[in-house]
Amino acid sequence: MDMLGGLSGQEFLSQYWQKTPYLVRQAFPDGLYKISGDELAGLATEPDVESRLVTANDWTLRHGPFFEEDFTRLPEKDWTLLVQAVDHWVPDIAALFDAFDFIPAWRMDDIMISYAVPGGGVGPHFDHYDVFLIQVDGEREWRIGQSCTDADDRRDDTDLSILAHFDEQERWVLKPGDMLYVPPGIAHWGSALSKDCITYSIGFRAPSQAETLVEFAQFAADSCTDFDRYQDADLKARTDSHLITDADIDRIQQMLQTLTEDRDAMARWFGRYMTQPKYGDAPLEEPTLSNADIARQLQRQPLIRNSAVRLAYQPGILFVDGEAIDSGLPADGLRWICEQKQISASDLGNQDDVARLKVLTTLVGHDAFYFDNE
Ligand code: SIN
Ligand code: CO
Repeated sequence: MDMLGGLSGQEFLSQYWQKTPYLVRQAFPDGLYKISGDELAGLATEPDVESRLVTANDWTLRHGPFFEEDFTRLPEKDWTLLVQAVDHWVPDIAALFDAFDFIPAWRMDDIMISYAVPGGGVGPHFDHYDVFLIQVDGEREWRIGQSCTDADDRRDDTDLSILAHFDEQERWVLKPGDMLYVPPGIAHWGSALSKDCITYSIGFRAPSQAETLVEFAQFAADSCTDFDRYQDADLKARTDSHLITDADIDRIQQMLQTLTEDRDAMARWFGRYMTQPKYGDAPLEEPTLSNADIARQLQRQPLIRNSAVRLAYQPGILFVDGEAIDSGLPADGLRWICEQKQISASDLGNQDDVARLKVLTTLVGHDAFYFDNE
């Protein structure tokens, strides 16, 4: 795979993923879909889009949405505009995830885009996520520093999470088409060298133990009744009633372990949890179009995938934006649906098309697929 500098997906994962930075010169030699500074600035004026403006000489941070005038007043140097989840709004940007399809889709977070002028950057920091930094326009110098923990000091004179100490290990200038992979916890520091410096950050999330525990506990609690309680029918008479014994701890540990033992429930919870939309909830809507409506409309125009939707599947279950659909489709049918960017009537030609059509109708009800100019 050329994008990985001659490594296969597996070789990259074994040697670099979650371990050590990896630079690929000309990972994308033919260029990539290039968003313009104006389009990015336009997105940053939208209230639903998360954006930040960072000034590098004094490390000030401003959050969007911005007004157009905010951009006309900016100096020639030392600032960067960062727009989160551009993949949600621009299908050509969402398509970049396809190049990373050797990594599970549920690990994908979003594509952040930065636009900077010389000196612009967010300072020395580390992220908790795996990130592929792709240089799309202009030049950016990246410095790689030490491996960090939460104990590493941050500067206290800025709202940005900037490391107080940066121990430079390596330094590279990235030109358009170059890509740098940075694992979680590794300090890095990017500084634009030119104007129109555009960098795409393809981020992969890993849920923290704390959030996983809280989310799973909520899900497990919902299926417990008031009769599901601590039980000690085998209680032994105590001579020291204040002592919490090993047997007490064993029982409570056993009670909690039992809650995590139902693998099917765990799998269903995990699929729902990992497809939850990052921005806003997509409420489950009753389909307003029937199977027949969809079939009829498909004769006229294709269905288009909403680039913000999160899809995943397990045998029998399709997960869409935090919901589980018991589809009745075989695994290859579910895989097919997850992979399509566009679906035409001619795609629904074989024996399981009725089942597929039903699933598509449900997905249209979720805004996961839509007819343009509907
Ligand atoms: C940037 O593109 O300026 C920042 C990306 C990052 O460091 O994660
Ligand atoms: Co970073």
